[in-house]
Amino acid sequence: MIEQDGALLVMFGATGDLARRKLYPAIYSLYCEGKLGEKFALVGVSRRPRTNEQFREELRKSIEEFARHSIENDERWQAFAAHFVYQSLDINEISHFVTLQNVASALEQQFGLTGNRLFYLAIAPELFGKVGKNLRDGGVLDTAGWHRLVIEKPFGYDLPSAEQLNAQINEVFSEQQIFRIDHYLGKEMVQNIQAIRFANRLFEPLWNRHHIANVQITTSESIGVEERGTYYDQSGALRDMVQNHMLQMLALITMDEPSSFESERIRDEKVKVIQALRQFTTDDEVRANVSRGQYIEGVVNGKQLPAYREEPNVSDQSTTETYFAARMMIDNERWQGVPFYLRTGKRLPVKATEIVIELKTTDMAIGGVPVQPLPNLLVIRIQPNEGIHIRFNTKKSGTFAQVTPVDFDFNNNKGKPPGSVPEAYERLLYDALRGDSSYFTRWDEVASAWRFVDPIAKAWRTDAADLQFYAAGSWGPSKGNGLPEEDGFKWWPVSGQADRDALWYAESI
Ligand code: BG6
Repeated sequence: MIEQDGALLVMFGATGDLARRKLYPAIYSLYCEGKLGEKFALVGVSRRPRTNEQFREELRKSIEEFARHSIENDERWQAFAAHFVYQSLDINEISHFVTLQNVASALEQQFGLTGNRLFYLAIAPELFGKVGKNLRDGGVLDTAGWHRLVIEKPFGYDLPSAEQLNAQINEVFSEQQIFRIDHYLGKEMVQNIQAIRFANRLFEPLWNRHHIANVQITTSESIGVEERGTYYDQSGALRDMVQNHMLQMLALITMDEPSSFESERIRDEKVKVIQALRQFTTDDEVRANVSRGQYIEGVVNGKQLPAYREEPNVSDQSTTETYFAARMMIDNERWQGVPFYLRTGKRLPVKATEIVIELKTTDMAIGGVPVQPLPNLLVIRIQPNEGIHIRFNTKKSGTFAQVTPVDFDFNNNKGKPPGSVPEAYERLLYDALRGDSSYFTRWDEVASAWRFVDPIAKAWRTDAADLQFYAAGSWGPSKGNGLPEEDGFKWWPVSGQADRDALWYAESI
């Protein structure tokens, strides 16, 4: 349950896609599970005109289409919908914020709330600064309770623009009040990384350069850029996925154990490891360690898919990367010398996010005969099948000096009815309402991530000779696919990969 005093949510971007697909369904789930109680209210804010009835009708549609819980009966629905009102607002009009303050106060009275306010900005980041100032100047922050700001990415385009954005927000909100969403941090198995690492003596003592040969993080997507060409063509995979989601997963996998599992201590450890990432200092270093690709047309399941440059709102000369892969190194005692391979791309063959920890092999001989075991693997499957996979070696039955790998699978959702696992946005909204910022990114993490990413973007601006094209539905460009091989490793296949079993067992004895 959120605090006894409850809270008022002000949702900017109330008629947008994120609110419709993710945020309202998340709020509805929290309500159905009793985590919100009745002491909450929401003012939906956007430019477009809507009556409260129209807004509630749209709310209902979004819940029917996207929520985990279905609407059981009309009475219950009416009780829920009564907590929602709508206000059309022009972000540049201070008088509209004064009206917002009046609407908010009236709702607080109606639901017995005491002034706790959460402002969710599901709008373009260029507007964050203006909204913050007008909230303050319109008197919307003049209440006795807490005030929190939840914001979505992109948080800047590079370090200077992120600093500027942060400075604008800081004019009104302090760092403790800012909750920067990275929705990957709301995923069940991403949150599970700490438990897997720190609650198991089986793993943690081995979690270092003495035992780990390499780590691979893959986020492959089968979709293209869809309707988001305008945004994506400016952003590309580096800014869209790597600066945030991929580096956050890397940080959780590699950080030291925090002195306590409080949000600030966890984020202290994450920032240290992001800062320890070895920066690429020259364009040649970038070219040697980073691969970028862009999809061209391809055929998947008999369907012809367009090239990236033919997608709506994408320049037909675009050199934006839809694929990224890199070898990264971490310069600290624990990880010195261990390569981390990260890859992500659109229009790859499957949708999967997986982290593979490959351990070093042992020198074993049975009866004087050397055996060549395959490496132990720990695979953390983030999505879509949540779970853990462990590979280890046993003696091959009936032989004297042969070992063979066996694979253990743990399915995190086994036995749980479909739809019973909370969505990322549910967890994150609930955390923000409770004031727990553990799974939100702190400013120094964001800044350090940009510091690592900017030299890559800079090298890419110099010329686009290293951009490789790959057919939609293939596994991406040759440079990316060959990166681990340059060091004597290979990409381990991900779940759902067509030839996975053949690749997985290729070297079995
Ligand atoms: C978003 C990116 O942050 O994450 C999208 O902007 C991407 O381009 C999405 O498709 C992937 O999220 P998920 O949860 O579907 O893996």
